[in-house]
Amino acid sequence: MSKRSILILKALIHLCLLAPFVYLVEFFRNGCLALKADPVNYITHFTGDWALYILLASLAVTPLRRLSPKIAFLIRFRRLVGLYSFFYASLHLATYIFLFSGYDLSTALISLKAGHPAEFVTQWKLVWPGIWDDLLKRRFIQVGFFSWLILLALACTSPSFMLRAMGGKNWQRLHRLVYIATIAACIHFWWLVKTGVRTPWKVSAVLAILFAARLIYTAMKKKRQSASIEQSA
Ligand code: HEM
Repeated sequence: MSKRSILILKALIHLCLLAPFVYLVEFFRNGCLALKADPVNYITHFTGDWALYILLASLAVTPLRRLSPKIAFLIRFRRLVGLYSFFYASLHLATYIFLFSGYDLSTALISLKAGHPAEFVTQWKLVWPGIWDDLLKRRFIQVGFFSWLILLALACTSPSFMLRAMGGKNWQRLHRLVYIATIAACIHFWWLVKTGVRTPWKVSAVLAILFAARLIYTAMKKKRQSASIEQSA
């Protein structure tokens, strides 16, 4: 694939993955968000959903590119897709801290304009005991935070210089944690829905299919390897 095609594809991926964010900003700007019964809840769910969808998309890259050598170039975009998942997960966390938790962001911003930036800290002091309490008591918050921490570690080590510094093997080992992050995100989803609600089944099914694809590929690879050893013996 030519350099130009790669660049065009990269631009397209940026456009597609930024689209939900642009949609959300526009939804806020045109006043439609304010018409929702619970706008904060809407943003929390929207950003959480997209973080998980994009995370699953990044996991799908490896099995997809194995389908044909013609699409092997897809691997070049996996890191980019993963970083977008981290972006939405961080927006999700920011929504939880600055909107969901009761942080009065508008007061903090008005105070900032009036030359009192300390209001940001005052607001934080007001909400952090509640956030800490949530983190200690609510298991869906714990597992969500755990998933985000893994995504943070993967995002921080994603640049090429980090790969060189860590060495390929160590980097690969660390980046396999993306599976754990996705499982944790799915558990987060199951644990937050009310008993009897089955909404997370679709994302869980996609994750199960991706795992199955990985297992099948590993089994086939082992079989091929042992067959070639037998042939050369
Ligand atoms: C960083 C720590 C996190 C916190 C504090 C957090 C918090 C929350 C909260 C408060 C909700 C709404 C719960 C409710 O409506 O009762 C939620 C929903 C959700 N979160 Fe998180 N979350 C975190 C991390 C993540 C991560 C890393 C992902 C995915 C990669 C994620 C995906 C979701 C999904 C899919 C939903 C449900 C959306 C829906 O119902 O459509 N969360 N989260």
